[in-house]
Amino acid sequence: MHISIEKKRLCLDKKLQNAFDSMKDSFMVSDMELKKLARQFEKEMEKGLEQPFDSIPMIPTWVTEHPTGNEHGEYLALDLGGTNLRVVSVNLKGNCDFEFEHTKYPLPASLRHCSCSELWAHIVGCIEDFLLQKYSPLPKEPLPMGFTFSFPASQNRIDQGVLQRWTKGFNIPDVEGKNVVSLLQEEIDKRKLPVKVTALINDTTGTLIASEYSDPETKMGLIFGTGVNAAYFDRIDRIGKMRETVSENLIKTQTPIAINTEYGAFDNEHKYLKRTKYDIYIDENSTRPNQQSYEKMVSGYYLGEILRLVLLDFAIGGMIFKGQDIHKLKIPFIMDASYPARAEEDDYRQLPLIDKIMKTSLGIQTTHCERQLIQEISILIGTRAARLSACAIAAICRRMNIQSGHCACDGSVFKKYPFFTMRVENALRGIFDWKHGKEIPLKLVAAEDGSGVGAAIVACLAKKATIEKAS
Ligand code: GLC
Repeated sequence: MHISIEKKRLCLDKKLQNAFDSMKDSFMVSDMELKKLARQFEKEMEKGLEQPFDSIPMIPTWVTEHPTGNEHGEYLALDLGGTNLRVVSVNLKGNCDFEFEHTKYPLPASLRHCSCSELWAHIVGCIEDFLLQKYSPLPKEPLPMGFTFSFPASQNRIDQGVLQRWTKGFNIPDVEGKNVVSLLQEEIDKRKLPVKVTALINDTTGTLIASEYSDPETKMGLIFGTGVNAAYFDRIDRIGKMRETVSENLIKTQTPIAINTEYGAFDNEHKYLKRTKYDIYIDENSTRPNQQSYEKMVSGYYLGEILRLVLLDFAIGGMIFKGQDIHKLKIPFIMDASYPARAEEDDYRQLPLIDKIMKTSLGIQTTHCERQLIQEISILIGTRAARLSACAIAAICRRMNIQSGHCACDGSVFKKYPFFTMRVENALRGIFDWKHGKEIPLKLVAAEDGSGVGAAIVACLAKKATIEKAS
């Protein structure tokens, strides 16, 4: 049950009410501010397409055609980039149809900081396990694999990608600046597995392509999960920085090319986003300060941490959890995005869910007032994340003159965070001045499995392109 902040009466004492009010102001983003941010976003995207390594990365993916829906064949896909690792086997059947089987392998938190060789050994161990489950004996001919690597990787070809920098709390040495496809293939070959990595894609590109395969209304692919990002189709002749890498003839053509925006890097210079002291703390104490500034305010990896920091601030100020043992609340990242999500979902009259999670996970007994406060803070955090997310969508729409259609979305925040879609759509209404009471022309829809099916389709497109080149 959810009621807006304005309609609810909180039973906070004066000091707490004042602290809450000023915190509330620092989290609110008006329609006017969103409009300005969306314009700035568009400019930064343009800059990113002109200059390499300036502003938002805007990475050309070398996916230069839309799927037709008639792609065929059996492919493997590997998905690395969030909280799990997945190995997928996809059978593309044409007619916009497909079947797939997958196994999810948890990615232990320690793997975000392990050594380079441990990372690839772990990944290929999972691939081996999957193959042994599915095939007996293993096939003789190598199976083509699409590798969904959900980090910024510069590409000169579809089957190669150099990691620019880790994001989302990953920090594994000796991978940045290297071609991750070669690193993966070397380990696969070491174990003599019948797999050939034929395409590297980002999860957003996968989402875009898999959704286009079955929904012609798709205009962009977006991930709202541990990280945030989008991919869309631009045109080669509008991408200034490609002049360096492609022939003079190609640069003049209107060939479509999917762009992995890596928009989580918006405003790394801290010029435009209104950051709270909690955002600044998160950034300064992260493994990569001054990177992924926008992502740190809106993605699932940070939403619970923002809530923790606000609660800790109020608790240390003696305003809440008086006399309670708050040592667990002091542990960084102890609260993931499911905390604010569940807090928002809770029945505002009794708030039993908040009572339970605070008691069982953090050992804190809450009063009804404190539970109300936790819900309100969560609403502010979740609403800000959704509203800011709309700026990126609006910027892509403006650049590509998209007036209507579907934004194919995936990721834990999109799937599980209450009211997320409604809030993004409302913010879009504000940015574009779409009239109230009428359906908006741009819809956020659940995407097809981009990291699996999308990777397989891209591997299939890559194979077709190679065959065409050879003949
Ligand atoms: C981070 C990554 C990006 C990915 C996104 C969603 O922003 O840098 O590549 O698409 O998370 O997983």
